[in-house]
Amino acid sequence: METPNSKRNNVTSKHPTILLRTFGCQMNKLDSAIIEVSLQEAGCQFVDNAKDADVVLLNTCSVRDHAEQRVMSHLGNLKHIKESRPDLVVAVVGCMAQRLGGELFKQSAVDIVCGPAQIAEIPRLINEAFQGKKKATLVTEKIRQLSLDGQSLERFETEYGIEDGEIPGQAYVRAMHGCDKFCSYCVVPYVRGPETSRPPDAIIEQVKKLADNGVKQVTLLGQRINAYEYKAGDKTYCLADLLSRINNLDGIEWIRFVTSYPSAKYFDCILEAMANLPKVCRYLHIPAQSGSDGVLKAMNRGYTSAEYLGLLEMARRIVPDIAIAGDFIVGFPGETDDDFAQTVDLVKKARYKNSFIFKYSPRPGTIADKRLEDTIPLEVKKQRNYELLKIQEEISSELAREFIGKTVKVLVEGPSKKSHHDQGMALPQLVARTAGDWIVVFNPAQRWAGLAGQFANVKITRISPLTLFGELV
Ligand code: 5AD
Ligand code: SF4
Repeated sequence: METPNSKRNNVTSKHPTILLRTFGCQMNKLDSAIIEVSLQEAGCQFVDNAKDADVVLLNTCSVRDHAEQRVMSHLGNLKHIKESRPDLVVAVVGCMAQRLGGELFKQSAVDIVCGPAQIAEIPRLINEAFQGKKKATLVTEKIRQLSLDGQSLERFETEYGIEDGEIPGQAYVRAMHGCDKFCSYCVVPYVRGPETSRPPDAIIEQVKKLADNGVKQVTLLGQRINAYEYKAGDKTYCLADLLSRINNLDGIEWIRFVTSYPSAKYFDCILEAMANLPKVCRYLHIPAQSGSDGVLKAMNRGYTSAEYLGLLEMARRIVPDIAIAGDFIVGFPGETDDDFAQTVDLVKKARYKNSFIFKYSPRPGTIADKRLEDTIPLEVKKQRNYELLKIQEEISSELAREFIGKTVKVLVEGPSKKSHHDQGMALPQLVARTAGDWIVVFNPAQRWAGLAGQFANVKITRISPLTLFGELV
């Protein structure tokens, strides 16, 4: 049997053991899934613990300072591990790698720095690290001039695009890279590069392959997925065209897409597609960020709160039972009590299923960081975050209550990580999601083995603000 020590003694062999930790958004989860398959194909095995690993890969996020600090603290721990195991290889991958580049070598644990556009090179970089060539940096020099046409990343993506490691039966598929919006607070355009839409044929091929492998739900990813646009000859393809083509593929049952940007272009076509195509989930994640027109302007969002609410109204007119989720940033520079009150007002009017609420975090290099002082004290940010969350919870509870007594179709994800004994739930408990992205926890009694990755019908018996509870029918 192989022991961790024998593995370590084998580091110069071709098959190192890998620990991969992923921080941040679904885009990063997708990158990690692709990296994982490519390394598995190269013969690597994955482990859950740094002590069993020859290589630690951290796939990082730069969207808020907190996410970066978590990685820094991991690097601190890895430094201690390396004191007794100098041949451990540590790679920082993803947005932080692109943002900080060679600066990351100030953290003595770091051997490899690799940006999100270079993930196709990871198997090679790891191999070289094992041949003694340590300290490699591979990031895009001028990220805003990045061109992905015909690059190895596209080939890599099509080749290795696979099922989600966490949720059986589900896969993320990138439809777009990067972002051109330059919201003043946001680091994404600087780390993920220019907005590019992948060719529709490549996406469809990939989804077909996934469906052939048993995937039932695909989630199309893009920072502004509703801006998807691909010109081929005389035809310009938009997201609605992609949805319609995927809707025709056998095996795929649910199609999702995130994240939508509040803009009118293509919005009605996309909603019509949602209303008319049976496989398209009636769910829209459409961040408002603030309800104050002054703050929205300072954020460079390009819409007013009235225009935003107009889009939600259109969404509900075309798709009456649509579930809508939002994002908000509280404590943006200069946000007054009155600005915040307008955000509260917008949340009440929008009646989101749920909202993700963040405290403003200045990001180096962004316009907001260069031009605006981070004036709102942390305590005020925390208070506003708490208040907004409370209001959202009340709305979520009201919406959740409408499900009591109803039977919903869900896609089962797997055993629940949290115990829900407080809800009177017996074991085992499975977690699932509705097409509208409501989380459902249910007790499947004896029939639970093999349900992960399957559709099921659950009768809802009770609720908490963010979760529906019920029994398998
Ligand atoms: N500070 C706080 N939240 C941020 N977000 C993006 N940039 C920042 C920042 N600098 C939030 C936005 C976005 C979500 C992914 O993260 O709400 O929609
Ligand atoms: Fe960031 Fe704005 Fe682009 Fe979203 S749309 S990724 S918030 S710059």
